[in-house]
Amino acid sequence: MTDITSPPDLTAFGADAALVRVGMLGCGTVGAELLRILDRRADQIARETGVRPVVVRAAVRDLGRRRDVPLDASAFTSDPHEVVTAKDVDVVVEVVGGTEPAGDLVAAALESGKPVVTANKELIARRGPELLEIAEACGVDLLFEAAVGGGIPVIRSVTESLAGEHVRRVLGIVNGTTNYVLTRMSEEGSDFAAALAEAQALGYAEADPSADVEGRDAAQKAAILASLAFGTRVSEADVHAEGITHIHPTDVDMARRLGYAIKLLAIAEVDDAGAVSARVHPAMVPLTHPLASVRLSFNAIFVEGDSAGELMLYGRGAGAGPTAIAVAGDVIDAARNLRQRARGPHVAPPVYRTIRPLTSMSSMFYLRLHVVDRPGVLAAVAGILGRHDVSIRSVIQEGRRDDAELVMVTHLSREADMQATLVELEQLEVVGSVAALLRVVGEEDETP
Ligand SMILES: NC(=O)c1ccc[n+]([C@@H]2O[C@H](COP(=O)([O-])OP(=O)(O)OC[C@H]3O[C@@H](n4cnc5c(N)ncnc54)[C@H](OP(=O)(O)O)[C@@H]3O)[C@@H](O)[C@H]2O)c1
Repeated sequence: MTDITSPPDLTAFGADAALVRVGMLGCGTVGAELLRILDRRADQIARETGVRPVVVRAAVRDLGRRRDVPLDASAFTSDPHEVVTAKDVDVVVEVVGGTEPAGDLVAAALESGKPVVTANKELIARRGPELLEIAEACGVDLLFEAAVGGGIPVIRSVTESLAGEHVRRVLGIVNGTTNYVLTRMSEEGSDFAAALAEAQALGYAEADPSADVEGRDAAQKAAILASLAFGTRVSEADVHAEGITHIHPTDVDMARRLGYAIKLLAIAEVDDAGAVSARVHPAMVPLTHPLASVRLSFNAIFVEGDSAGELMLYGRGAGAGPTAIAVAGDVIDAARNLRQRARGPHVAPPVYRTIRPLTSMSSMFYLRLHVVDRPGVLAAVAGILGRHDVSIRSVIQEGRRDDAELVMVTHLSREADMQATLVELEQLEVVGSVAALLRVVGEEDETP
């Protein structure tokens, strides 16, 4: 272990760079890779950035576990509070995960005047505003580039490069597991269970994949993106979240025939009145849209602003290397700021904005119904849609007799109207069931 007991000499910058001592909370997938990067590229980082981050302590749960990392065994502790309060730690990196004890440890580190870098989307989505307030009050950085999009620098893009922009919409594929599953369903014709099992075997999905496939992971990222893009406070509970567990191979196939790909999207928007909406749901994206060609475990985030127009950031949204390099970038930033006695980007106190419920939104819809093949069925179904102001753009009827299906794409319609339509359709004698309802995103509707 590097023996450093004196306070850092943050002014020492000559032949070498200012030494900045890092304390880690957690040394798992991301933490171990961060250690390797900081060790392997120490001289390059010092030369190019003027700081030399050196890990001096690491808290883990199991001290007995074998770890293939360039850190002496004596630097490990099972007491994370030791790291947070240590006099010889200048910057704390939180890569434990979860909200507790991570949240209280991050708060304690900030309160003891230490900048914190975290990769924890769950923590930032749930306690971000409170922790940012503590960081502000204590005059230290709280940086979390790796929390959204792993190696994709979306947080910096939104908060720094686009600081003067009026962002209207952030739209993206922010979960690699579900994108992998949907890609395999589309390209191999697999069903959901088989594609998920393959993702798990390849390490793209966790043993318990529920947070990914039910849309909660993407909802946490949508909450963070909406908060930063619109300077407001959007929590995970404000985000409408639907996952992909109900996506049927029939709809994946039908999507392709109609010129779409099914993608799990996180969408955050602000309207002209300043009200914000944030939602996560599977959507039909036109094959000509750049998001449709984002395959396998890749992520991509589209940002639309008044001046910049449309930007797309694309890359690996997770994995040890991409996540650790994003954490390393934040550590270097925090270290540089310490050396210059400065702070990272100013995070303005959040402005209150109304959160729009999903029912007030509008979109085009894809609807698949099991129906009885009998004269007048289409007229009965169309009548119900018409009564609720939902107008049909295209319709396909497939199958015969009791095994027939009606597939429709609607014009732009209000979500509340579509929900009311579904209730009535389900009561119609000739409709066996509403087999699928998906929103169409990324396509301009021509006036009906
Ligand atoms: N993995 C990715 O691709 C990825 C991508 C983006 C963001 N992230 C985020 O990065 C964070 C870390 O993820 P990870 O994949 O590296 O997790 P991980 O492999 O499970 O590592 C967690 C680490 O935290 C330690 N730990 C757990 N509870 C602790 C406690 N109470 N006190 C002290 N140490 C404790 C564990 O100790 P032991 O080693 O002894 O078990 C382990 O070293 C999470 O917030 C995750 O959401 C991960």
